[in-house]
Amino acid sequence: MTYEELLTRAKKGMAPNCRVCRQCDGMACRGEIPGAGGKGTGEAFIRNFRQLASIKINMDLIYEDQGQDTSVELFGRKFAAPVFAAPISGLSLNYNGYLNERTYAEALVPGCLDAGCAAFTGDGAPDNFLTDPLKSVKAAGGAAVPTVKPWDSETLRAKMDLVKQAGAMAVAMDIDSAGLPLLAAAGKPVRAKSVAELSRIAAYAERPFILKGIMTPVGAVKAIECGAYGIVVSNHGGRVIDQTPATIEVLPDIKSVVRDKVKIFIDGGFRTGADVFKALALGADAVLIGRPYVVAACGGGREGVTLYTRKIISELKGTMKMTGCASLDDITPDKVRIL
Ligand SMILES: Cc1cc2nc3c(=O)[nH]c(=O)nc-3n(C[C@H](O)[C@H](O)[C@H](O)COP(=O)(O)O)c2cc1C
Repeated sequence: MTYEELLTRAKKGMAPNCRVCRQCDGMACRGEIPGAGGKGTGEAFIRNFRQLASIKINMDLIYEDQGQDTSVELFGRKFAAPVFAAPISGLSLNYNGYLNERTYAEALVPGCLDAGCAAFTGDGAPDNFLTDPLKSVKAAGGAAVPTVKPWDSETLRAKMDLVKQAGAMAVAMDIDSAGLPLLAAAGKPVRAKSVAELSRIAAYAERPFILKGIMTPVGAVKAIECGAYGIVVSNHGGRVIDQTPATIEVLPDIKSVVRDKVKIFIDGGFRTGADVFKALALGADAVLIGRPYVVAACGGGREGVTLYTRKIISELKGTMKMTGCASLDDITPDKVRIL
C-alpha cells in the first residue's frame, strides 16, 4: 500500500464528514462539531496549521554526515521517534461510523507500535469511549497513554482504576475538555480542577501523569506544581474554545519557564516530519498528531497507521539530514526561522 492509495481509500470511507483534504488545515470542516472541525469560526484549528507553515527550516550541509538518530526516551522507554498519535474519541459521532472506538484503537495502538512509536487513546461521555481502547492498550502490554477527562472525583477514580488494570505506561488528562460542546450536551460533568485536586490525581495515577491542554506559561507552572510528568501544549485541535493562539506560537514562552522540569508534548496542525522538526527546535520533546491518524486508520487499518508513522519518521530524518542534525539534541532554535 502507498500513502496515495491509503488516501484514496480513506476518501471513499470517510465521506461526507471528512473530505480527506490534501492539506488537513481546518478550512473545509471549519465549525463542524460533530465532525472533525474547529469550534465556532474554526480559526484556532486553522491558525495551528498556518503558524506552523510560517516557520521555515535553515539548511546546513557542511558537516560530517554519520547518519541521523530520531530515537527518544520517554516514560522510561525508548521510541523510534518523538511522534505519538493524539487521543481521538467519538469516532462514530464525529466521523461517519466507518470506524468506531474499538476498531480505531485496534488499528491505532498496534499500528503505532509496529513503527516503534505509541498512541494516546481517548475518553468520552459513553463509558466505552474509554473501555474499548483500553482493551487494545492492555493487549499492547500497556504501551499507550489513555487520556481521561476531568470528571467528578468518584468517576475519575473509577476510570483511573481501569487505566491501571490495563497496565498503561502513563496516563493523561485533557483538562481543556471542560469546553467540549458534546460533553455538555450529554449532561456529563467535566470541569476545571485545582492544583490540589490535580496533585491528588497525579499521585493516585501511580504512573507518569500528563496534563493536556496547556496554552500559557502560567498554566505550565501550575502543571509542574501538580507533579505532572509532562504537559501537552494543546488547544484540543481548536475544538474547545474559538480564537486561541496557535500551539506553536505559545511554545517558546512555555519552554522558557518549563525548561527541563517536565516533558513538553505539543499538538495541533502537525502533519509532516518537517512540522515535528519545527516543534523540537522550539522546545518540544515530542509531538502528537490527531486527525491524520483517523485518515490513516480508515484508509489502511493497522498497516496504514504504521505506514503514516514511518512516513513522518522518514521526513523527520530527511529534515535532520538537510540541517546537520545527527540526533534530536542537535535540533536547536537556530535551525528554524520564524517569519
Ligand atoms: C474528532 C476528534 C476527537 C477528539 N477526541 C479527543 C479525546 O477524546 N481526548 C483528547 O484529549 N483529545 C481529543 N481530541 C483532540 C486531539 O487529541 C488533538 O488535541 C487534536 O486533534 C490535535 O490536532 P490535529 O488533529 O490538528 O493534529 C479530539 C480531536 C478530534 C478532531
